[in-house]
Amino acid sequence: MHSNKEMVKMGVLETGGVIQYSKGLEGVIAALSSISAIDGAQGKLIYRGIPIEMLAKYSTYEETAYLLLYGELPTKNALDEFTVLMRELRHIPPKVEMCITELPPNPHPMDILKVAVAHSGLYDPDQYRCCREGVMRKVIRIIAQIPTMIAYYHRARTGQEIVPPNPELGHAANFLYMLHGKEPDEEEARIFDIAMILHAEHGLNASTFAAMVTASTLSDINSAIVSAIGTLKGPLHGGANERVLKMLDEIGTPDRAEEYVLNALKEKRRIMGFGHRVYKTYDPRARILKEYAEYLSKKYNDTKWIEMGEKIEEIMIREVGKKGIFPNVDFYSGIVYQFLGIPRDLFTPVFTMARSVGWAAHVCEYTQNNRIFRPRAYYTGPDYVEYVPIEQRR
Ligand code: SDX
Repeated sequence: MHSNKEMVKMGVLETGGVIQYSKGLEGVIAALSSISAIDGAQGKLIYRGIPIEMLAKYSTYEETAYLLLYGELPTKNALDEFTVLMRELRHIPPKVEMCITELPPNPHPMDILKVAVAHSGLYDPDQYRCCREGVMRKVIRIIAQIPTMIAYYHRARTGQEIVPPNPELGHAANFLYMLHGKEPDEEEARIFDIAMILHAEHGLNASTFAAMVTASTLSDINSAIVSAIGTLKGPLHGGANERVLKMLDEIGTPDRAEEYVLNALKEKRRIMGFGHRVYKTYDPRARILKEYAEYLSKKYNDTKWIEMGEKIEEIMIREVGKKGIFPNVDFYSGIVYQFLGIPRDLFTPVFTMARSVGWAAHVCEYTQNNRIFRPRAYYTGPDYVEYVPIEQRR
């Protein structure tokens, strides 16, 4: 039988069969939610009961955002109204635009977003409205503005003219338009829209949980979203897809994939884009993104990336699939984004753009029946230590 101290080190302390401590809150239920559900064993994901595969096939980001925020698919009128509002609220205050375009060189793009979202909140005409309608307008404004912030930052840092939002284009297509300065190919805009749907929501992942902790103190929605952005910046959460492409660069050709992966596993290095706290089988989002990565590879007649990816997948499943380590959402998303001309260091901002609605939905849901998050730590320090005056300390 392990001592308490040993069990704490192992990450689990049980008292009378009830888990009192689980490292990283693994397996702990911290909220009741009807927004989404993940079946980690079967590799299933549903948003408000609808399988992600159906939403990817038939829905749009705007419609999925409405579903996540309001709990049901919108009628045609409701969707039209929501879409008009999203397009109206895309513009960012001039002072925020100036702040984004006049920042110090080479900041981390996620730091830009943290600053820009916090800054924009200061000019939000609804900032002091706490009623549901006021909160929803603030939420929709943040969701609508983040793509503009990312695109403006990229155009400014590359010395290009700022391209204002195009009211004729949907959420996903408008981002590619503002980023590239030209209307996107319809098919590619649709693929990006699907990627946005796949990244929109995923239960109590680290960044969503961070937003909920902030909101549970009855702080404002803007602060909650800024907390989430800072959390998603971490490479174990966001940013893995950027590191997947870096790894593929390093490997270079499909025939070198096996040696690279086997060495990494031997040295206990993690292969980015694999593994998941909840999925212990193939991440259903990765399956869909892989299809589009294959499609775009053929369309652009550049199959090196997908061939390396599939080789790595084959080896990782052979070597560590039995440990429940499979491709996650980040493994193929980078290949898709690269073909869509999105710079690698904008992959996590793009994740932010999609996930902002999941963060907002959980904040709104949790604060309806709020209880401030306040877990405890299991004290492992000494029980009593004498206070020693400084002159007697050695
Ligand atoms: C996202 O939570 C969400 O829902 C997140 C997300 C979302 O939509 O919000 O799905 C988005 O964050 C996807 C994950 C992106 N990150 C990466 O791809 C980074 C690489 N993956 C890992 O670091 C890791 O898999 C995590 C962080 C994703 C999950 O880690 P866990 O659940 O804490 O797993 P663990 O660290 O306890 O590892 C268990 C074992 C260890 O081996 P042993 O010590 O038991 O021998 O699995 C091994 C790990 O070394 N392992 C890996 C691995 N991930 C876990 N080995 C090699 N490569 C990996 N990627």
